[in-house]
Amino acid sequence: MKRRGFLTLAAFAGLALAGCGGNAGSMTFGNRLRIPELLDPAVGPDGVKRFDLALQAGQTEFMAGKPVPTWGVNGSYLGPTLRVRRGDQVAMAVFNRLSEASTLHWHGMRLPAAMDGGPHQMIAPGAIWRPQWKVDQPVGTTWYHPHPHEKTALHVYRGLAGMIQIEDGPTGLPDRYGVDDIPIILQDKLIDSDGTVSEHFGGTFGMLGEQIVVNGTYDPFLEVTSTRVRLRILNGSNARKYNLVFADQRKYSVVANDGGLLPQPVLTDQVSITPGERIEIVVEFQPGESVVLRSASGSDDIDDGDFDLLKIVAAARLDSSAAVPDRLPARPPIEAVAGARVRKFTLSGASKINGREMDMTRIDEVIPAGAREVWEIENIVYAHNLHIHEVAFRVLDIDGQAPPAWMQGPKDTVFVPGKTTVRLAVEFGTHTDPVTPYMYHCHILRHEDKGMMGQFVIVPPGTEGSVSRTISMAG
Ligand code: C2O
Ligand code: CU
Ligand code: CU
Repeated sequence: MKRRGFLTLAAFAGLALAGCGGNAGSMTFGNRLRIPELLDPAVGPDGVKRFDLALQAGQTEFMAGKPVPTWGVNGSYLGPTLRVRRGDQVAMAVFNRLSEASTLHWHGMRLPAAMDGGPHQMIAPGAIWRPQWKVDQPVGTTWYHPHPHEKTALHVYRGLAGMIQIEDGPTGLPDRYGVDDIPIILQDKLIDSDGTVSEHFGGTFGMLGEQIVVNGTYDPFLEVTSTRVRLRILNGSNARKYNLVFADQRKYSVVANDGGLLPQPVLTDQVSITPGERIEIVVEFQPGESVVLRSASGSDDIDDGDFDLLKIVAAARLDSSAAVPDRLPARPPIEAVAGARVRKFTLSGASKINGREMDMTRIDEVIPAGAREVWEIENIVYAHNLHIHEVAFRVLDIDGQAPPAWMQGPKDTVFVPGKTTVRLAVEFGTHTDPVTPYMYHCHILRHEDKGMMGQFVIVPPGTEGSVSRTISMAG
């Protein structure tokens, strides 16, 4: 991969060791990390929380003085953070102010299929889509992004994404938004020296950029003012995998996976996160110190290179935070129930699940409401991951081995390394709709766009046999 700019000795050493790209050691951390606005809902007399979200085009200066065209939600790049509570009734008004159709999918939200924002809920230019649902899931970090058939990579890359945080009573964890509870949206770009952002999605994995932006900020620093800070990290990249370490190898506490809290914090010095996944960590700081959050090069094609992501600078005086609790108010772990139905999926090439590519008119799987199943994902080639809409799952094993402790919480997206089989205990929801499907797919967006995706419906138990396996695309 072609590198641009000055190579420091440290970066060169990293390069020589890893035999690949990266920016480590060459960053100056000159830009204050942007924190997405926390969007206040309008709350009517009915108690419903209403959020207005507009998909729109704008301009962003990733490089100072070099504005480039981007897309955003209520702004020019990315979108606001939404905070909701379990039990809330929410109503979204999604305005499409772009010149082409798109969708907005609530990744990780457990809701009726017609509200999901997948490829069947297209929003025409100029139109407004109004999904509503009751939030009924544990504390956690979900997100939103477009999901138009065959165009998700481009729409996400241009900047349509944002975070949703679910609250449900006290957790004992830092929760002051933008102060000690910081959203961290990791994305990579391919930016030329003239500031142009490449939209070249070719190759096996599509976009693997050489410049990293965090919350849309290139070369960022973050100032913190308390002794413990929670980072809610979302991999909003098209393909890149990040192996998160601090430059001084410090340990941190992992407190949540995609779908919510771990039963107890797990102390580690490295976690990995692939596109679509979230992980929450709590990091401790000493007054006046600074440390760089970095992605270490790995062996998975999609984690080539050592990248400096963010410099965190602790103020000279820090507010002292409460200790991370020994136990967290987590949901009960998702168990593989005896006699659970096992469904097998084989990932092959860049576009196939069980030998087939996505067909919008085909229902691939029919699931009884509330089912507990085991999904076995065999990947016969190179790196993929698997995201399942609407569910929560637990990773049972990876090639027969228990996953690392930091990965044992509730999840909706899992990395499946090449030539590896991953088994999941999956908990399905109870919103039934025999004609509107949810998706499961590789969240490497080029693979998703090329067809590595399937569709399932959730139906009342006992009706599986009478459900139509084709859907009409009319209307
Ligand atoms: Cu985050 Cu089907 O997507
Ligand atoms: Cu999703
Ligand atoms: Cu893939």
